Amino acid sequence: MTNAANANNASDRVIIFDTTLRDGEQCPGASMTLEEKLEVATLLDEMGVDVIEAGFPIASIGDFESVAEIARRMQRATVAGLARAIPADIARAGEAVRHAKRGRIHTFVSTSPIHLEHQMRKTQEEVLEIITATVTQARNLVEDVEWSGMDATRTPLDYLARCVEAAIKAGATTINLPDTVGYATPDEYRHMFRTMREKVPNADKAIFSVHCHNDLGLAVANSLAGVEGGARQIECTINGIGERAGNAALEEVAMALIVRRDALPYQTNIESRMLTRASKLVSAVTSFPVQYNKAIVGRNAFAHESGIHQDGMLKNNTTYEIMTPESVGVNKTSLVMGKHSGRAAFRDKLKALGYELGENALNDAFTRFKDLADRKKVIYDEDIEALVDQGIASAHE
Ligand code: KIV
Ligand code: ZN
Repeated sequence: MTNAANANNASDRVIIFDTTLRDGEQCPGASMTLEEKLEVATLLDEMGVDVIEAGFPIASIGDFESVAEIARRMQRATVAGLARAIPADIARAGEAVRHAKRGRIHTFVSTSPIHLEHQMRKTQEEVLEIITATVTQARNLVEDVEWSGMDATRTPLDYLARCVEAAIKAGATTINLPDTVGYATPDEYRHMFRTMREKVPNADKAIFSVHCHNDLGLAVANSLAGVEGGARQIECTINGIGERAGNAALEEVAMALIVRRDALPYQTNIESRMLTRASKLVSAVTSFPVQYNKAIVGRNAFAHESGIHQDGMLKNNTTYEIMTPESVGVNKTSLVMGKHSGRAAFRDKLKALGYELGENALNDAFTRFKDLADRKKVIYDEDIEALVDQGIASAHE
């Protein structure tokens, strides 16, 4: 039994399917070497990711080799290779995951009228036949087959239900309904999964999956809404990298499910204390910086500058933090000294630097600190030490 198969649509367990190495790598400039991919995959495996989509084996020899090597090495995670609805793609993906402890072929075809008319130039009936033929082919190669209806969120629900039915009938064990262009709203996405689960015969034979792009900044919200609608697999990437505006960020999805367990009662296997490490590794191997204010893993995610917030944090950290930095692998909260900082944080900083000043000296140092902060964007510990030492020296002149 695969890790992923431990979950089903009725349980509260959500499978985390990471596609950093496939959809993530598809964003311009993010390509990784085999060694880099192996390093990322090993960390994802250790972190508790259930399925690692390691690449698109037909795309290049390098991609094939990466998927095959990751498939050979992973101990816990299922390793998936992507394939278009083309026999040669499916055969190549099957070959690449052949040596995996748990291998998956992930095959996809477009279902929306826009794609059928302008890109594929196929009728709806032709696409239904393709689904049956390709999923059957994949199922003859591996037991674990995921089928995706590309651009599902712009597909009429009646037709989408027929596609899903055909894929399940042909043996798909996971049905992924992507918001390929990041167009859906959370209500629409939730409704789509509810409808599929109600309408499609044998819907319970497969696990439903969400795959959301972030064109409107809704990828994480949509992913969670899809889970509320009955999906039990979330496809996501570290740091949210991916085509165009990216995919749902794994670290955000995982922490939303941990921090808001009261509202979102679903479990994952993710070891959250490894999230920051994973973020740093992916940023390093892709050379994509993580924006400072990125949720969970951004440099400022646990930094406080304003006097009011720093004062609250010094009294009790639940005043302005909804999770601890340790829970995502960051050592501690930082109270950043700047022009918005207050006297309480300044006093605390002096104490941490080893200074115990009397009230007058403290007031004097604080005034000079504010003056400096107006002129300088970043105030380092050394700036504060210099400013206090100057004050002490002039008091002795
Ligand atoms: O966004 C998408 O539709 C995809 C598919 C290949 C699953 O990445
Ligand atoms: Zn995608």
